[in-house]
Amino acid sequence: MINSIYVRLFSGALLCLILAQARAEVPSGSEAEAKEYYSKLSLTLNYATPATIGETTLTDLAAYLGYGKISADELEFAPPESLMARGEPRGILVSRFFAPKIMNVKFRETSPEFRLGWRKLVRIKAMAGSSAKAANIVSAVILFNFFPPPGRMPYERGNFSVNTQVMLLPDPVKITPLRGQKGDGTMDTVYWLDYQNTTSAGPGKLGYFLHASFDANELPGAGTKNYYVPHGCVACHGNNMQRPLLNFMDTDHWFDRLENDFPQLKDSGQPLLFDAGTNDPTSPQFKKIFDIIRTFNHEADQHAKQAQPRHDETLASAKWMEIHANNDAPVPPLKRAIGPAPQWSANTPGDEAALATLNQYCYRCHGTVKFSVFNRQAVMERRANILQRILPTAEVGMRMPPDRELPPDKLELLQKFLSQ
Ligand code: HEC
Ligand code: HEC
Repeated sequence: MINSIYVRLFSGALLCLILAQARAEVPSGSEAEAKEYYSKLSLTLNYATPATIGETTLTDLAAYLGYGKISADELEFAPPESLMARGEPRGILVSRFFAPKIMNVKFRETSPEFRLGWRKLVRIKAMAGSSAKAANIVSAVILFNFFPPPGRMPYERGNFSVNTQVMLLPDPVKITPLRGQKGDGTMDTVYWLDYQNTTSAGPGKLGYFLHASFDANELPGAGTKNYYVPHGCVACHGNNMQRPLLNFMDTDHWFDRLENDFPQLKDSGQPLLFDAGTNDPTSPQFKKIFDIIRTFNHEADQHAKQAQPRHDETLASAKWMEIHANNDAPVPPLKRAIGPAPQWSANTPGDEAALATLNQYCYRCHGTVKFSVFNRQAVMERRANILQRILPTAEVGMRMPPDRELPPDKLELLQKFLSQ
C-alpha cells in the first residue's frame, strides 16, 4: 500500500493521470482488470503464476532475468559501479539523476514542504538460459523514485523508493508488426509491473494500483481513487494500449529547470547526473556517466521507432540522439524543436520566450500527454484550446497547468504569442 507521503509527493503526476482518466479515450481501469492483466502476464511471460505473482518482489524479478544473486536491496541501494560490474559488459546499465517531472512544483524551494525528486534507472538484459529469455523477454527497465528530506543526500540507505516502476521488453522480432512492418510476432511492445515501496521490513510486493486520496483543493471533485496498471501507465508512454513506448531520458530538460524553478539547487552545485560528480560537461567523469544515458536513450529510441514511429516522443528521442551524437553539453530548447515546418525558430520573434514558458510550465506532461510543446504546429493547432484553458477562470479540471498557478506575466506572454 502506498502511504500518504507518496500521495502528497506524487500529487502532480497523479493529477496528470486523473485528468487523463477524465477523458473517455483513456480508461481508468479497475482492480479486476489489473489482476487479469497480471494473471495473463504471468502466463504469457512465465513470471511466477497467476496465484503467486502478487507475492513477488524485485528479488524474484532479478532471478527471473537470470541474476539469482542480485537482491531487491542491491538493485535499490548498490552504487551503479558495483551493480554494473555484476552483469556482462553493458548487460546492466545504471543511472541516477535529478527528476523534476516527479516533483510537486506547487511548493517553491523556500517552502518547508519542498522536496527534490531523484530517480535511479536500472536496465538489465536477460541472461542466456533465464526464464525471461525463454519467454522472449530480452530486458527489464526498473525505475526507483526517491524524495530525500531537505539536507539529506539522495540515495542514502533507509530513504526508500516510494514506488518502483518496471517495464519488461520483448525481443523486437516477437512484437506484433505494424501494418507495413515485417514479421509474425504477437507480443506487446511493453509489459508493465509496479512494485510497492520498500520498508525496513523488506522489499515491496507487486502492486495493482497507485492509491491516491487528495486534498479537495489539489484535486477538484475527487476523494480517493485508484489508478491501475496498465492503463495508468500508458497515458504518458505513447497513449496506446497495444503499443506503449519507452521514454528517453531528457537530460536537457533537467538542466533547463536549474535556470527557472530551482536556483537554490543550481547554486548548491549538486550534480544532476548524480554520479558525474559535477555539472561540467567537459569533465571525464561527466562524459563517462553521460555515455551511459546515451546508450539507454539509443535503446529507447529504437524501441519508440518500432512501437510508434510517428509519435512526438519518437521524434523527440531521435532529436536527442542527433544533438547528442558527439556532444555531452546541454542544448537549449530552440535547438530541440520537432515536428513539421515551420518549427520553433530563433529567427521567429517571440518563439524563444514562448517555448521557454511552455517548457517550464507544460512540458512536464506535454512532452508525452496528447501533444509535445516542442512541436510548434501541435501547439498552434491547439491555440484556441490553450487560450481557454490557461485562463484563471477556466473550469477546474480543464484549467492548465493543473499542478500550479501560471504567473500573470507568463499568462500574458502566452496570450500575446497565441493571439498574434
Ligand atoms: C505523468 C506521466 C507518466 C506516467 C503516468 C507514467 N510514466 Fe513512466 N515515465 C514517464 C517519463 C517522462 C519517463 C522518463 C523519465 C523521466 O523523465 O524522469 C518515464 C520513465 C519510465 C520508466 C523508465 C523507462 C523509460 O520509459 O524511460 C519506466 C520503467 C516507467 N516509466 C514505468 C511506468 C509505469 C509502470 C507506470 C504506471 C504505473 C508509469 N511509468 C506511468 C512518464 C510517466
Ligand atoms: C501535470 C500535468 C499537466 C501539465 C503541467 C499541463 N497539462 Fe495540459 N493536460 C494534461 C492532461 C492529463 C490533459 C488531457 C486531459 C484533458 O484533455 O483534459 C491535458 C490537456 C491539455 C490540452 C488539450 C489537448 C488536446 O489535444 O485535447 C491542452 C491544450 C493543454 N492541456 C494545454 C496545457 C498548457 C498550455 C500547459 C502549460 C501552461 C499545460 N497544459 C500543462 C496535463 C497537464
